[in-house]
Amino acid sequence: MPHTVSTPQSWRSLHKRISGTLGFVPTMGNLHAGHLDLVRRALDENDHVLVSIFVNPTQFNQQSDFDAYARTFEEDCAKLDALQDAEKRLYVFAPQEKHIYPDGYAVKVLEAEDSEVLEGKFRPGHFTGMLTVVLKLLNIADATRAYFGEKDFQQLLLVRKMAESLFLPVEIVPCPTRREEDGLAMSSRNARLSAEEREKAALLYARLSDFSRSDAQVMKTLEKDGFKPEYVETRWRRRLAAAWLGNVRLIDNIPAESGAQKEGKKHAVVS
Ligand code: PAF
Repeated sequence: MPHTVSTPQSWRSLHKRISGTLGFVPTMGNLHAGHLDLVRRALDENDHVLVSIFVNPTQFNQQSDFDAYARTFEEDCAKLDALQDAEKRLYVFAPQEKHIYPDGYAVKVLEAEDSEVLEGKFRPGHFTGMLTVVLKLLNIADATRAYFGEKDFQQLLLVRKMAESLFLPVEIVPCPTRREEDGLAMSSRNARLSAEEREKAALLYARLSDFSRSDAQVMKTLEKDGFKPEYVETRWRRRLAAAWLGNVRLIDNIPAESGAQKEGKKHAVVS
């Protein structure tokens, strides 16, 4: 199993003993193929890789969502172990809440512009919690590069903005969204869909990829499909959407216009 540390101090002392570049992959665990892509890429591009597993309470809007978040630490470590090479270059940082929030969340990172729209509008406080934990994790990891998926596009944008604004000495590396065969973006939350919902869920990507329809028309189509869409909006040269299917909130985004048509070709099933 990968060497695991649980306190910032123990990671720091281990970090001092290894040399070369470090890639960092922050996660909340319940790892799927999308996370493993990030870890593989980090291993390819760095001498060592640190994966953090921490279900961050401050970025959840509802206690029930936090409680329902699957904790699968043993399975996660086994998946990471399978990527481990002979040199054992992969480490896990799995802190507890008290290690990350010794201040009880008194100090926070606030971005007051791009965090107010889309996800920020529907999930108040989410990005403050996310940016705060990411800043702490980046400071603890002290990595050369940190890897974030494009699936959470607004998160990636805000993390990049924070890194630039606060002069963080780390390169933020964006990684493409990993999709299921039918186009559904991989997410830890997909496991909570019923079989019927899972089948329908692929329509989110298909509808998003239909550039013959406006954002407003896609919203309406998703409603007819049985989703409860929160937004479909084109911004930052992406088309982004969030929609509920039963009790599961799905998000996705694709490049706007021509890029999307190219990306969409492989999966889009638009009727
Ligand atoms: O994308 C996630 O899993 C989380 O938002 C992150 C970046 C690990 C911070 O808790």
